[in-house]
Amino acid sequence: MSGTERPLGKSGVSVPALGVGTNRWSTSAPGQARLNETLAAAVDVGMGFLDTAEIYSFGRSERAVGVAVRQAGRPVVVASKFAPMPARIAAPQFASALDRTLKRLGRESIDLYYLHFPYSPRGVDTWMKAMAEAVEAGKIRAAGISNCNVAQMRKAAEVLARHGMPLAANQVEYSLLHRAPETNGVLDACRQMDVALVAYRPIAGGAVSAGSRKRRGPPALAGTLQEVAAARDATTLQVALAWLLKRDDHVIAIPGATKPEHVRQNSRALTLQLSDEEFAAIDRASTPTRTR
Ligand SMILES: NC(=O)c1ccc[n+]([C@@H]2O[C@H](COP(=O)([O-])OP(=O)(O)OC[C@H]3O[C@@H](n4cnc5c(N)ncnc54)[C@H](OP(=O)(O)O)[C@@H]3O)[C@@H](O)[C@H]2O)c1
Repeated sequence: MSGTERPLGKSGVSVPALGVGTNRWSTSAPGQARLNETLAAAVDVGMGFLDTAEIYSFGRSERAVGVAVRQAGRPVVVASKFAPMPARIAAPQFASALDRTLKRLGRESIDLYYLHFPYSPRGVDTWMKAMAEAVEAGKIRAAGISNCNVAQMRKAAEVLARHGMPLAANQVEYSLLHRAPETNGVLDACRQMDVALVAYRPIAGGAVSAGSRKRRGPPALAGTLQEVAAARDATTLQVALAWLLKRDDHVIAIPGATKPEHVRQNSRALTLQLSDEEFAAIDRASTPTRTR
């Protein structure tokens, strides 16, 4: 494992601490050539960890990721997600959805596969049992969940443990503008259970950027991010990502990007070591979100 890699819990799989979210990737837009360049840039800068899902652009994100990975011809860690839609009520539907994902990606197996959300006519336990069987069949290397609370995390881990495998990750929204994982127990549970916390929307869609017209959040936060960024010759987005990575070793962030220059810029957060004072100043300026 390199200095900028982090383990997916006890799964034995490790990934770059920063990956690339692909919910805006599609085979039709913004164009496969640019997405190929985005992925190549990610591998070059040590962010070869792509996050997709069957529901992103109705499968076209997975297809675009598959094409870009083949084009790169270099190792890339790929994660995708099973969506437990209301019409999906039995394990064979999990198995066939996974097979379709693998076909779109053009792979025999996936590195990390998540239950996308827990809202389903069937409980988390049904889907995690199906997940465990797919791990046993060699189609999934690491099993994860997404948008799950602490009780659902424990349930998922318990089902997987019956099959002798660990829960690798819980992917939840986490940024300086959305600090709910710190107050709803999910971050603590990730630490205690040794499960990776994969942070989605880690830059709040760009809204943590002090210079962005989309900027939201306490004015003090924008000012503090700007001060730290100026002192470090960095951007406010890089500082915001570095803050998340310093928050806890279990945190892995997947900023979405469809442009190679954005990936290159974000990669600076892998090596930007904030001081404890800088970390604390940003912490104070960003009021934790109330538990929802
Ligand atoms: N599990 C879930 O339920 C769930 C929900 C939402 C998202 N996700 C995952 O999390 C990923 C990230 O979330 P997100 O994409 O919604 O939000 P995000 O990562 O907070 O923000 C993405 C936005 O920031 C822009 N951006 C990225 N780097 C930038 C830079 N250096 N400078 C300026 N702008 C920059 C991107 O622009 P460009 O596209 O122009 O590069 C895009 O518009 C998704 O792609 C998806 O894989 C998961």
